[in-house]
Amino acid sequence: MDVALADEVERRRNLAIISHPDAGKTTLTEKLLLYGGAISQAGAVKAKGEQRRATSDFMELEQQRGISISSTVLSYEYDGKQVNVLDTPGHQDFSEDTYRTLAAADNAVMLVDAAKGLEPQTRKLFEVARLRRLPLFTFVNKLDRPSLSPYELIDQIEAEFGISCCPLLWPVGSGDRFRGVLERGARRVHLFARGERGKKAEEAAVVSLDDDRLEALIGDGELYAQLIDDVEMLDGLTDPLDLDRLKRGEQTPVLFGSAMTNFGAQRSWRGGAVPRRRPTPLLAAGAGDEETVEPTSEDFSGFVFKLQANTDPKHRDRIAYVRVCSGRFEKGLKVKHSRLRGQQLTLAQAQTLLGAERSTLDGTSYPGDVVGIPFSPGQMAIGDTLYTGSRRISFAKIPSFSPEIFARCINPTPSKREPHLLPEPPPPPFFLEAYKSFNKGIEQLLNEGAVQQLLERGDTGGGVPILAAVGPLQLEVVSSRLSSEYSVEVQYEMMPQTQARWAMAGWEEVDAVLSERKLLNVKTLEDVYGRPVLLFTSGWTLDNAVAEVGERLQLRPYALAPDVQERRRKK
Ligand code: G4P
Repeated sequence: MDVALADEVERRRNLAIISHPDAGKTTLTEKLLLYGGAISQAGAVKAKGEQRRATSDFMELEQQRGISISSTVLSYEYDGKQVNVLDTPGHQDFSEDTYRTLAAADNAVMLVDAAKGLEPQTRKLFEVARLRRLPLFTFVNKLDRPSLSPYELIDQIEAEFGISCCPLLWPVGSGDRFRGVLERGARRVHLFARGERGKKAEEAAVVSLDDDRLEALIGDGELYAQLIDDVEMLDGLTDPLDLDRLKRGEQTPVLFGSAMTNFGAQRSWRGGAVPRRRPTPLLAAGAGDEETVEPTSEDFSGFVFKLQANTDPKHRDRIAYVRVCSGRFEKGLKVKHSRLRGQQLTLAQAQTLLGAERSTLDGTSYPGDVVGIPFSPGQMAIGDTLYTGSRRISFAKIPSFSPEIFARCINPTPSKREPHLLPEPPPPPFFLEAYKSFNKGIEQLLNEGAVQQLLERGDTGGGVPILAAVGPLQLEVVSSRLSSEYSVEVQYEMMPQTQARWAMAGWEEVDAVLSERKLLNVKTLEDVYGRPVLLFTSGWTLDNAVAEVGERLQLRPYALAPDVQERRRKK
């Protein structure tokens, strides 16, 4: 048993904050860093204003990417633990990266705006957290503003997500009448004092529920009476905290507070609720296999969850972000690459990312950390496993998420698309060069997972690629990279569809349903593995299809890449 490794594994806590834009993720992250005594902040949180301005302009896009690279991981120490916060970009930068980052997280903190409740992006991200069975903590933010009733918020989470809520902190009032939070376990109330922005705020007082002075300190008879009712109601209505259910993603501890005014966030830290309950990552070794790799295993293993290119416009660099799953990672480590059939690579240029002092001092990263590995084209793809040791392993796949934007990607030299069909005389060589560059570029970007590709049914190559993205930024990245790296200017022809479902029942069933005229206003495409994908123009047509033929066609919002064997059979 390698005691030093086991200690480091035990010290690591890793989480991603998921939220709808403006719920307060940046503010909460800042407060966590503040209370944790940030080790490295890399200006990432502060750079947010610039991040927001990301537009289609190439330079700004570069700038935006430069910022998001520095904010891939933020680390700080808390109570002897190293907490790694994986950044999940929001809003305009919303893309598949966000989903993939969750694949590298051990825990998720769902941030909810107390006035708005669940919002579209919270819902999407929750689905991913559920798919990965991440333990989920809920932080209801902005209680210092007029809010929905806490019961309403909890009901919403339970009804929509089918997850049981266990409030650890409970609000006393909201908006101008926000008086503090009840810490249910300890049966005491933390009274709220509006703190100076950006500074640590001390609570006005911490008073036991049984203290006779409590009503006077709250200073609002109605709120006091409500609090006493709430205590009883909650004990009767909610289940006690059950760590096993939390680890299985069936129960979520709920905290109420106000990140901006420093309230509630520091409570959750002091109580250690978020960082202490990190389960051992459960990662399947080999598709469909329930086997796991213990983080304390001495052999190194990790997987690529994010790729970024041209972070420095002066150098054509590409960086793969690898989440360390077991063993130790040090610069110069010789690893094997599972997709490249165990080919050996020496990771001489690897960077430990914003690690804790201890890990950067000796240059070592441990399970739960993230390392950045420069690579050459084709070498790394999303989901690749790197490992040492004699046994070839491959971690569970990262699902591609349901795209909502579809565009035909037009080659700038369309008539040269199929050169063998060209009339005489043959086109000048530079046309063919541009044609080849386009194909090469698209292939490379698809390989890296920058976007997904769909095809017209029966397309055996040579057709116009249809790019499917979760967010518009993905398409911008593709066109700017094709332009800067492959010198081709693409045109997009946007398609009207906004929803996609994979029909896992296969083509035969899809054709049957189509011939029975049970599916109207639907476009049928196939994915790169030849599986049917149905596109819908609205949530309404999709809901209809789900109600009519959802079960029969086994409609799914995403699909995992099939096993290598299956893929071969298809071809
Ligand atoms: P995001 O990263 O999730 O997009 O949200 P961010 O932290 O940027 O917060 C969005 C807005 O909500 C910010 O206001 C922020 O100050 C505010 N906010 C965050 N937490 C709280 C809270 O607990 N209470 C209140 N009242 N407001 C909160 P902004 O006006 O957009 O920006 P700023 O000028 O305050 O920086």
